[in-house]
Amino acid sequence: MKVLVTGGLGFIGSHTVVELQNKGFEVVIIDDCSNSDESVLDGIEAITGKKPAFEKLDLKEKHKVEDFFQRYQDVTGVIHFAASKAVGESVEKPLLYYENNIGTLVYILKELCKKNKASFIFSSSCTVYGQADKMPITEDAPVKAAESPYGNTKQMGEEIIADTCKVIPNLNAIALRYFNPMGAHPSGEIGELPKGVPQNLVPFITQTGIGLREELSVFGDDYPTPDGTCIRDYIYVVDLAKAHVVALERLLNGKNESNYEVFNVGTGKGSSVLEAIKSFEKVSGRKLNYKVVGRRPGDVTTAYADTTKANKVLGWKAEYSLDEAMNYAWIWEQKIRD
Ligand code: WQD
Repeated sequence: MKVLVTGGLGFIGSHTVVELQNKGFEVVIIDDCSNSDESVLDGIEAITGKKPAFEKLDLKEKHKVEDFFQRYQDVTGVIHFAASKAVGESVEKPLLYYENNIGTLVYILKELCKKNKASFIFSSSCTVYGQADKMPITEDAPVKAAESPYGNTKQMGEEIIADTCKVIPNLNAIALRYFNPMGAHPSGEIGELPKGVPQNLVPFITQTGIGLREELSVFGDDYPTPDGTCIRDYIYVVDLAKAHVVALERLLNGKNESNYEVFNVGTGKGSSVLEAIKSFEKVSGRKLNYKVVGRRPGDVTTAYADTTKANKVLGWKAEYSLDEAMNYAWIWEQKIRD
């Protein structure tokens, strides 16, 4: 069965393509390469021995999306990663985010609605919860007013899918709400390739560790947490990738209880910024150069997942620890700087 992975050259997308191929799926990738590189195809092939079909295509061009589905009639399963995802940038360029993240979603859904049966996995985010009132966060925690256009596109995306599934029974969808993805494939062939100065904590840590960045700024240590720094649920990207395959198989095997389901994808464990730094120092044997500065606007204090539903209903559980994931992130950083 052929599966379309949009954004399949990206960080989470490429790791998911590997896990799909490992489970025998034939994959076709669409990516516009705006935040990724075609050479990632070679990394995927180096791991699985199979180079996925690839179409460089801007999903904002509706007729190109229609043409793709005309040419790939046998694609009835889609895992949709393609989106802009920088919180800060979304505040400065809201229309870029609404066009790229919402317009493209609508075009893909319109094509899937023409199929007798279609399976759709949506890349959502714990961002939809904002600062949740209770930890760990369950899927029925209230969705709060988005703190950024990026977060809003994830909330709107979920609503668009839910509304569509209500009237299109042959469309079966699952939204996966990621917590904080990190790390790189154990092979060292694929990993995170942030363009420019990394916004996320872990790539900034490894780039500081290797000397690419002078020092890490810790955004605040006056939060109401044990060590004063923010707490997040850092999930290894391979664990996250496997969750997508399990979710797709759930739909293909008709195991879903309704045609729109939502799952948190995290480890269920919270780690602070300082604990992430300590994890890096442990796995690398290096002291990390950092300084505490002011809080970053928009940061929530604490966010980690209640993984009961994913464990019990989806049948998936994260297997790797923060240290193991950090070790793979560090190995990858050293490899790409060689
Ligand atoms: C984690 C913690 C920072 C950088 C965002 C998006 C989310 C998803 C993942 C796309 C926070 C602190 C960070 C730094 C720091 N994005 N930090 N110094 O903000 O939890 O989640 O990225 O899918 O949707 O919201 O991740 O890695 O940016 O920050 O102190 O240089 O690290 O303050 O507490 P975040 P992050």
